[in-house]
Amino acid sequence: MLKLDISKVTPFVGSDIIEDYTNRAIAAQQTLVDGTCPGNDFLGWLNLPASITPEFLGEVKAVAQTLREECEAVVVAGIGGSYLGAKAVIEALSNSFQWLVGCNGPAILFAGNNIGEDYLYELTSLLKGKKFGVINISKSGTTTETALAFRLLKKQCEEQMGKEAAKKVIVAITDAKRGAARTCADKEGYKSFIIPDNVGGRFSVLTPVGLLPIAVAGFDIDALVKGAQDMECQCKDSNKLNNIAAKYAATRYALYAAGKKIEILANYQPKLHFIAEWWKQLFGESEGKDQKGIYPASVDLTTDLHSMGQWIQEGERTIFETVISVENPEHELLFPSDDENLDGLNFLAGKRVDQVNKMAELGTQLAHVDGGVPNIRLAIDRLDAYHLGQLIYFFELACGLYCQLLGINAFNQPGVEAYKKNMFALLGKPGYEKETEAIRARL
Ligand code: PA5
Repeated sequence: MLKLDISKVTPFVGSDIIEDYTNRAIAAQQTLVDGTCPGNDFLGWLNLPASITPEFLGEVKAVAQTLREECEAVVVAGIGGSYLGAKAVIEALSNSFQWLVGCNGPAILFAGNNIGEDYLYELTSLLKGKKFGVINISKSGTTTETALAFRLLKKQCEEQMGKEAAKKVIVAITDAKRGAARTCADKEGYKSFIIPDNVGGRFSVLTPVGLLPIAVAGFDIDALVKGAQDMECQCKDSNKLNNIAAKYAATRYALYAAGKKIEILANYQPKLHFIAEWWKQLFGESEGKDQKGIYPASVDLTTDLHSMGQWIQEGERTIFETVISVENPEHELLFPSDDENLDGLNFLAGKRVDQVNKMAELGTQLAHVDGGVPNIRLAIDRLDAYHLGQLIYFFELACGLYCQLLGINAFNQPGVEAYKKNMFALLGKPGYEKETEAIRARL
């Protein structure tokens, strides 16, 4: 199981303080269970893993199989919580050189998460003449970035394959009733999955939002869900020592209260880069409200020790670090001996590359702690679907609990509307005439 080590935090914040906040986090968990916390109409993620049935997973896998058989490429259109979870898991489980070695199944591409004209031009050019499918993911069904990409992709898919054939390879994942994505799916007769009303975007990776793309990529969604179920079970246990999500939430809160305003999520495996992107959205969009919240940042190590390492070691002391450590890599690679030893590295001969990585990790942890950076360590046994499932549920629960300690609603994102309003006004969207006038006066 996932292990949490906070021994390198207690030199900075007393263990009695963390213990007190852990008790408060566990009490807060009851308000989630009872549905009495702020944002209580978005608590569907809490018992989600346990509610996932083999029949439901079978349905997801059947649709994934059709896309795998019919398509050379599948484009996942979505943004924020409607893409980051799938992207994170797929990247973590894929070969690092997937685009060169090819994959056993369709290439998984992503769109609808930016409005870069070059990106969309290059994507649609790449898809020319190819049999491709689209998974259109949007809970609201109205998000501009996703809707814009979907319109382009739908048209291209229909033109290349014909309208009838396109219907077999376009899947919608959206609200049961509301939004343009639902209207379009119903009108065109696409296969669709529902995002439950009570599960917000960034908590939706264990719904079809994450599960379908991950299954299309050929990864084991049964194991992913099992990992999440086991973590759900562990954190419900009445033995509070098992509730590592509450402990992590409490430790974050104690550090925040002690003036640590930035958390850096660090990894030592490049495949975890997008797990950090998913984590940043989960925490950032949940806690950054009411002028409060830890700023979630991330680094890939040891890579970024040669770019951000100096800042972490000696910059302003308002940071703490959480390291995700993978105990056992999938592959073994021994460092060779060299007769000439021109690089002076024969002292490493016969050692695993991972042993060097682990010593870099340990050395960095000690250096950062010496430099005044509290360090939380999360260790997972292997980088596989089962352990990623554990990690996902752990972070979701920890986020929900931490936001209760902070006294904010974790499950809304009112601030995201500000840029949309300005963008629609600037683009002259009908209904935004007043805003357009006001905004033009400011330019
Ligand atoms: O976490 C969230 O709710 C958001 O990040 C959404 O996932 C994101 O804005 C995309 O929204 P939608 O799925 O409605 O297109």
